[in-house]
Amino acid sequence: VGSENIYDLFEVHDKDVWEFERHNLWIGPKLGNGAFGEVFQAWIAHQSADGKQACAAKRLPPGASYEAHQDFRAELALMKELGTHPNVIGLVGHCFQDEPPILLVELAELGNLRDLLRKGRASEGRAQSHSVGQLIEFCRQIVNGMAFLEQNDVIHRDLAARNVRRHRLAKFEFKHLCVLVDQQMTCKVSDFGLARTLDGEQYTTTTTRLPVKWMAPESLGRRIYTTKSDVWAFGVTMWEIFSLGGTPYQEYRNAHILNLLESGYRLPVPMQMPSKAHGIMQQCWSMEAEERPAFAELIGSFTGWRSESL
Ligand code: ADE
Repeated sequence: VGSENIYDLFEVHDKDVWEFERHNLWIGPKLGNGAFGEVFQAWIAHQSADGKQACAAKRLPPGASYEAHQDFRAELALMKELGTHPNVIGLVGHCFQDEPPILLVELAELGNLRDLLRKGRASEGRAQSHSVGQLIEFCRQIVNGMAFLEQNDVIHRDLAARNVRRHRLAKFEFKHLCVLVDQQMTCKVSDFGLARTLDGEQYTTTTTRLPVKWMAPESLGRRIYTTKSDVWAFGVTMWEIFSLGGTPYQEYRNAHILNLLESGYRLPVPMQMPSKAHGIMQQCWSMEAEERPAFAELIGSFTGWRSESL
């Protein structure tokens, strides 16, 4: 076929240090739905330590397809390869012996950022929970996590390196559910969800439910995904943040988004967005991928801002 799941690029051993026995795992209440299936709060007991550690358990639904199993293992392989970063959801372990396979990741107690922002909106008798400075801080942390992914592009293959390539390949497409928040109000990029198959030059997704409203024009039109298309998606995430969990292009259908973008339309500036942030967001939405900033450059744009001018 000439295409290959990224799972095949890594060796995933059944017996390894990340494997937990199921009798050391307790599954609690459901937290939500992830890219693959349900996510639960869970606790694990370590052989060597007292007490239990809280985490999030992602479980493939019973009867999941072969492709779903492969995608699930691909996410795991990616997480193992990546290592840890404070702004990226970390791996805790997995239960891959026996069915159903379970992936254990760090728990983000406050859930996804979009819902957190919506809950924090001003209402009668209550002021808005998150200051503009806090919104900028959320952006800074997401950029930090994304720069780490950008810099650690593990999907890069020697085979592909022969090709002249301006940008490295995207790890995943951003969408609101991908940003979780922990008890310390730290943003964590998560859900390395969508499967990518290596298709000659570029990665294309096999998933049919695409996050169209977060996708760059070249992804929509030509199925090209690069770190620069992640930067476009970050622009949409910035828009979500400063609109306190607003729904992008609410009045438009997915099928019309590409035409809309090509005609030059962009989301309107949220009321609370400082002009500097607006400038960054517009740059992320450059039609030409080359003109969008890299995450590494964006770190500088967001650092030292809080104390500066708002
Ligand atoms: N929902 C999906 N993943 C989660 C996580 N790691 N923590 C909390 N809620 C989640």
